Amino acid sequence: MNRSLLDVRGLTKHFPGVRALHNVDLLLGAGEVVAVIGENGAGKSTLMKILAGVQPPDAGEVRLNDELIQTATVRDAQKLGIALIHQELNLADNLSVAANIFLGREPRRFGIINFGKMRTDAAQVLDRLRTSIRPDTLVSRLTIGQQQMVEIAKALSVDARILIMDEPTSSLSQHETEQLYEVIADLRDSGVSVIYISHRLGEVRAVADRVVVLRDGENAGALEKEDITHDKMVRLMVGRDVTSLRDRESTNPGEPLLHVRGLQTTAYPEQSVDLEVRAGEIVGIGGLVGAGRTELLETVFGVAARRAGTVEVSGDIVRANHPEDSIASGMALIPEDRKQYALVLEMAVRANLNLARIRYGHRAGFVNRKSESRTSVDMIKRLNVRTPSEAQPVQYLSGGNQQKVVLGKWLSLNPRVLLLDEPTRGIDVGSKQEIYELVEQLARDGAGILFVSSEMEELLGLADRILVMHDGAIAGELARAEATEESVMHLATGAPIPETADV
Ligand SMILES: Nc1ncnc2c1ncn2[C@@H]1O[C@H](COP(=O)(O)OP(=O)(O)OP(=O)(O)O)[C@@H](O)[C@H]1O
Ligand SMILES: [Mg+2]
Repeated sequence: MNRSLLDVRGLTKHFPGVRALHNVDLLLGAGEVVAVIGENGAGKSTLMKILAGVQPPDAGEVRLNDELIQTATVRDAQKLGIALIHQELNLADNLSVAANIFLGREPRRFGIINFGKMRTDAAQVLDRLRTSIRPDTLVSRLTIGQQQMVEIAKALSVDARILIMDEPTSSLSQHETEQLYEVIADLRDSGVSVIYISHRLGEVRAVADRVVVLRDGENAGALEKEDITHDKMVRLMVGRDVTSLRDRESTNPGEPLLHVRGLQTTAYPEQSVDLEVRAGEIVGIGGLVGAGRTELLETVFGVAARRAGTVEVSGDIVRANHPEDSIASGMALIPEDRKQYALVLEMAVRANLNLARIRYGHRAGFVNRKSESRTSVDMIKRLNVRTPSEAQPVQYLSGGNQQKVVLGKWLSLNPRVLLLDEPTRGIDVGSKQEIYELVEQLARDGAGILFVSSEMEELLGLADRILVMHDGAIAGELARAEATEESVMHLATGAPIPETADV
């Protein structure tokens, strides 16, 4: 294959105290799909932002069809046919889907925005993505997954020759992810090149023609199609083997900690949910995106309106719609949409890590001595947060490292009942293990854990027991020993488990 469409040589980029990229090379051929992988903070997004004109490099050269190019602005890059789908969602909430797709590039007639054309053009790209999102819908009304689809549509609408996707699937459902694969295959067939970034190595295997690995801002190696295996990717990324989830021995759970009875969410008012989590227990919630898992956690915690039902922590009733009551009773929720609910981006890593403790720790009175002595430095080390110092504003951390700070903030509170929504989204393979260990440690110390995950490996590997949701209800429960990918999927799609079907 002709690999000289894009030829990146010696790219270097420093930030104060951080060497983000050092002498990085990258080749990309026409119609080729190259995956760029690496640990959190390895430099992937920085490299892509440089190619897309978001920020300039300190040194290095970029050639497109053998010609030296400069992409000083995003517009320059787009004119050359390079478009980037950002890792963070960057949409204007108060505008329609169509207006977002063409923001700053609105089709005009006699100098006036041609709304009709904008709508039809938007409908066309959305169609290409095989989504049912409508051009006139306000972005604020979309789920995170749908917003991610709009970001993708926005990049597609540029008619790029090189499309860069920075973790495009982190909030997509399985179905949407598969639709994206089809789009990528179409693009490749029409000669468009794709640079694909993901921490989901299964996806990388599915889409990539070649894998380029970055480690600590440098090239760490590359794999040709036939060499792309999970283990080889991990070894190049981390520099060692990572043992995946070991066989966890389910411990005998203790007292019931969290009791949820007859809970009705606003999303699924006709359903009612009962569940219990015991001390020392790790309970997983599986199901497809849209099954009502996030709504369930948010309603239990009180950030989403509860229509009916009771929630108790250690026998104490927790008032509906009062998250501060939930926190006082020892509950913590780590939400799916972390940017919005969980971090103060302008503040330092240290301040963010202590935010929950300062605000709730004392009044709640459940901070034990052990957690008090656990400083932010300790959390940074345990979660392997890559930052030049604890004084660094969180906004300058890489996506995955921001996620770790959110986790650290709540984990350092030592909650009695911990609700986690997609705890390792955007987090690299090595750090995932650290997070699982922290969660297991919390459980061993007597906390009850309820977590939502769309990653089958995580669900099966971490949970003592799995509740599978379908259409807002718990469709079934699986003990660790009987849970398999098939049994979870079976329940998630609304079918009964074969064994119990005729009971
Ligand atoms: N604007 C900035 N100011 C300071 N440091 C930055 C800035 N942007 C990125 N960095 C740092 O550069 C390094 C590389 O970050 P980058 O976002 O490229 O990582 P990444 O490989 O995309 O990681 P992730 O998988 O977590 O998204 C990190 O240490 C990050 O903290
Ligand atoms: Mg990134």
